[in-house]
Amino acid sequence: PQRRPQSSKQRFVQELSQCLCDFVAQLLPTPEELAVKEDVRKLLERLIRSIEPESRLLSFGSTANGFSLRNSDMDLCCIIDSEERLSASDLVTMVGDLLARETRFVIKPLPLARIPIVKLSLPPSPGLPFGIACDIGFENRLALENTRLLFCYAMIDPARVRTMVLFLKVWCKRRKINSPYKGSLSSYGYVLLVIYFLVHVKNPPVLPNLQQLPPLRPITQEETHLNGYNIWFFDDINLLRERWKSKNTETVAELLIDFFKYYSRDFAYNTGVVSIRSGFILKEIKLPFFSLTCEKDPFETNFNVARCVTRDGLYTIRGEFMRASRILATRPERAIVALAQLCE
Ligand code: CTP
Ligand code: MG
Repeated sequence: PQRRPQSSKQRFVQELSQCLCDFVAQLLPTPEELAVKEDVRKLLERLIRSIEPESRLLSFGSTANGFSLRNSDMDLCCIIDSEERLSASDLVTMVGDLLARETRFVIKPLPLARIPIVKLSLPPSPGLPFGIACDIGFENRLALENTRLLFCYAMIDPARVRTMVLFLKVWCKRRKINSPYKGSLSSYGYVLLVIYFLVHVKNPPVLPNLQQLPPLRPITQEETHLNGYNIWFFDDINLLRERWKSKNTETVAELLIDFFKYYSRDFAYNTGVVSIRSGFILKEIKLPFFSLTCEKDPFETNFNVARCVTRDGLYTIRGEFMRASRILATRPERAIVALAQLCE
């Protein structure tokens, strides 16, 4: 039988998927960059152990969650395994002094911040053309766990999930809507929007809900809870990759087009809360008009990941979702042109 000719839409979507994969592939960190970062982590860990011998310095955030772009910041968390330990703000001051003495990093300790951290940076040099920026926090075990959760989501269907997330991270940075300090959303917030969309909006879903799958064996309250929060999720990735076959066969381009459409038009910003554990939840209390967005942390469910988003910030973000949706709906002759316009 004769094959039906491809429609212009099919052709566009197919080409866009290829362009997205190629675009993202160029932006992945190089093996050299990853090696330098690992060396930096080891060096810092060794130095911090001269203050706290029982400590470990662990990566979280994009360096560890599978959604890292070239030259992204390093998020490090210091875990101290002994019972007696200094307060986070004392540690920040002491570690800050030590690193200022012993390393070439520019050090900025923030002992009084809501989450005390030491900020380190190395300015660009010929060997490290983008320098290094790194934050060290203390005892933030929930961040380590939510990093592991995102990593598992990234690994279930990397071709679609990682491509989509990495593209959105580039897009939101280029469109300047990725600064919680200026009223927009953190990268973590955007990643949760993508996972929510793939778990709860798409039907059939692209991803399972890892926090709601039945465990393989009975688990106790101690195993599942940390600081009063339920941090359990299904983390046997090998088993999942074997068993989870999504019935959703959409391409990454189709998913991206639909993602922008959903968040520009369909998501009920006035009444809804994004929760990757529970799906769409109604806001229990009607929030004042200016605090429209609400996004639940997967573990710390009383914590609003989007709390920094202002009314103007949300207006701008939604405007950007609409702009992206419009560009993709016009289907320029070449998909690469659409990508360039999106990230202008
Ligand atoms: N995090 C969190 N709660 C937030 C923001 C961040 O727990 N409200 C933690 C998460 O573990 C997240 C990490 O901090 O993975 C880093 O957040 P962020 O820098 O926003 O995301 P990255 O994936 O590191 O993105 P980027 O590459 O832009 O730094
Ligand atoms: Mg980061």
